[in-house]
Amino acid sequence: MEKEQLIEIDESINAWLTTLDDIIPKLISDMVTTTKENMFDLVTNVDKAIQQNFELFLKEHYPSHQLFAEEKSNREVNAKEGHVWIMDPIDGTTNLVKQQEDYCIILGYFIEGEPVLSYIYDYPHGQLYKAVRGFGAYVNGQPLSSPEDIELKDAIISYNSLVINDETIQDLNDASFGYRCIGSCGLDSIRVIKGQFGAHVNTNPKPWDIAAQFLFASELGLKMTTLNNTKLDFSTGGPFIISNQACHASMLEILNSGNGYNK
Ligand code: IPD
Ligand code: CA
Ligand code: CA
Repeated sequence: MEKEQLIEIDESINAWLTTLDDIIPKLISDMVTTTKENMFDLVTNVDKAIQQNFELFLKEHYPSHQLFAEEKSNREVNAKEGHVWIMDPIDGTTNLVKQQEDYCIILGYFIEGEPVLSYIYDYPHGQLYKAVRGFGAYVNGQPLSSPEDIELKDAIISYNSLVINDETIQDLNDASFGYRCIGSCGLDSIRVIKGQFGAHVNTNPKPWDIAAQFLFASELGLKMTTLNNTKLDFSTGGPFIISNQACHASMLEILNSGNGYNK
């Protein structure tokens, strides 16, 4: 795609994201929460309205683009063909419901299976993270630099401790500097992207949880792989790590030692 076209799409997505600043407070003031697969699997009117709003935006401005998103059936979409937007309208819905903080909007734009634009909008903190293929990554327009190397012994690492077995958690604790988890795959990944965390692991992410991270990782020289150190398929998701170069191998060695990481 020509640079001018990419800039035009980026500007129009930025404008759409700005419209959320007016919409989200109203949606939150009338928040309605329902459950999906179990009592901890929440969805709200905020998630649904943001996704519907983006769907309408695409229909109006880019009718040939497809939407692959959490709160819809994606049966008719081939994520690897043509122009596809992968969206998590709210990543960290539990945080939205329980804390009204630490949630974000994730958007990844793929052309023929290649990521070209990525956004993680940390709305509560007014921080818009963006990656543009070949042109680096930014926060609120300011360039982000590649994180310095962080060895595991010096690193804060994050993962969902409810789904990893106790022995592996103990080994990770022993080998790292500390553990923190925000509870939003997008924002935990942003900590790695900014060089604050050494690594973030999610053992069962869906495509929308990780859609934006691919481009941030490649633009900033981070590692983003399966937990077997193979190429991660953005269209299926599956166990993943986004990691600082210097602690990726040691994280994977621990996660795959003994009986592995599954609880
Ligand atoms: C969830 C969050 C959470 C992660 C889960 C995701 P949601 O997304 O990112 O941190 O551990 O795997 O499903 O449900 O809030 O969009
Ligand atoms: Ca999510
Ligand atoms: Ca979500």
